Amino acid sequence: MWEFWRRHKRKVYVTFGVFGSGYLLYKLYEGHKRRLSDLERELADEKRNDELIRSQIKEHFGKIQTIADSTTLPHVMRHLSSRIEEDLDLTHLMERLMKGKDEPNSLTAAEKLELWDRLKISNFTRIVLSLWATTMLSLYIRVQVNILGRHLYIDTARGIGSSIQLDEADLIDRDDEQQFLASADYLTNVGLPALTSCFETATSEVLKGKQLKDFFNTTVLHDTILQILATFLSMGSPHHWMGFLMPEHSKLYNSAATSSSDSTEPSPASKFEQLMLEAQAVLSSSEFENILDMSLKTVVDVMMEDIKVLCGETNLKLGIPLAKLIPRLAHMSRILLEESNRDRYIQIVQNMPEVEMFFTLLYASTPAS
Ligand SMILES: *[C@@H]1O[C@H](CO)[C@@H](O)[C@H](O)[C@H]1NC(C)=O
Ligand SMILES: *[C@@H]1O[C@H](CO)[C@@H](O)[C@H](O)[C@H]1NC(C)=O
Repeated sequence: MWEFWRRHKRKVYVTFGVFGSGYLLYKLYEGHKRRLSDLERELADEKRNDELIRSQIKEHFGKIQTIADSTTLPHVMRHLSSRIEEDLDLTHLMERLMKGKDEPNSLTAAEKLELWDRLKISNFTRIVLSLWATTMLSLYIRVQVNILGRHLYIDTARGIGSSIQLDEADLIDRDDEQQFLASADYLTNVGLPALTSCFETATSEVLKGKQLKDFFNTTVLHDTILQILATFLSMGSPHHWMGFLMPEHSKLYNSAATSSSDSTEPSPASKFEQLMLEAQAVLSSSEFENILDMSLKTVVDVMMEDIKVLCGETNLKLGIPLAKLIPRLAHMSRILLEESNRDRYIQIVQNMPEVEMFFTLLYASTPAS
């Protein structure tokens, strides 16, 4: 999982080793030739320098986190919500059904059934897609922030090693940071249509045998939603969903591999790609799979609580016909994408102890801890 860190940790340890002990010995040796007070003053400068670096990293990391929390995440979520609203708007279907009611002969029974079937599938699709995308994007943006944090640390360490002036070592290229964070919009800009159709396939697979008159109680609804998620995840290759979230692996991989085949510093142009590759490595790790799975189960539970309130607790417990449940699901999926609810779901996920632990470890995979 920590491929990048594994590759570079020697370098960083060596850098710190030299700085920490070797450099100190050198200073002590030099100290023979100097007056003791000189040495003390220098060591004090060294310490101040160290503290300065530390506080600069902290400040800069804080800035990235703030940008991500206050700008990237809300922007990406708003954009996603409005695209889901637009793409899955089936009011025209509903209008046709209503028209069919007024003019009894305008639709055959088979046509009506077909229309209801599509409403059924698209309503479930919208709910599960919204849950998945919200959870995924909030986790992904946090992965990005932590990767940027790691880089900050490693780059600063390198800066010390090669004794670059602190203000010259422009920790990480701001453009690359921006570009990297902005890539969280890929799902909404590029991946959404294919993601939607994938969820549609999974949903129709799971709902195939469900009739409009079938009773749905809390257990059935909960299981149906989890089943759709599981079906979606089992379609295609193990991490096929990454293709909806970011540009194809091979494209990034090839260009990054050619530019970093030698051991020199990566060129500035490949920095963005390097960040993307690290993000891919994190997302395809089994640790991430675990927390994604846990997070999805949690948001499904939270939504079940909300939908119970929406349907009336006892109603859903006893079960209501699918035909009556669909309008409630439609309502649920609309309010799910509203800012206050979205934020509540995201907060619940981010505050899960397992999720917090995952990100602590991700960031601490540098000696920054
Ligand atoms: C919900 O319905 C299913 C099947 O109709 C049934 O097996 C299950 O026991 C019900 N669950 C509850 C909590 O009533
Ligand atoms: C969900 O179903 C309702 C009918 O109950 C319909 O008006 C609405 O357009 C459907 N929404 C989607 C996203 O399919």
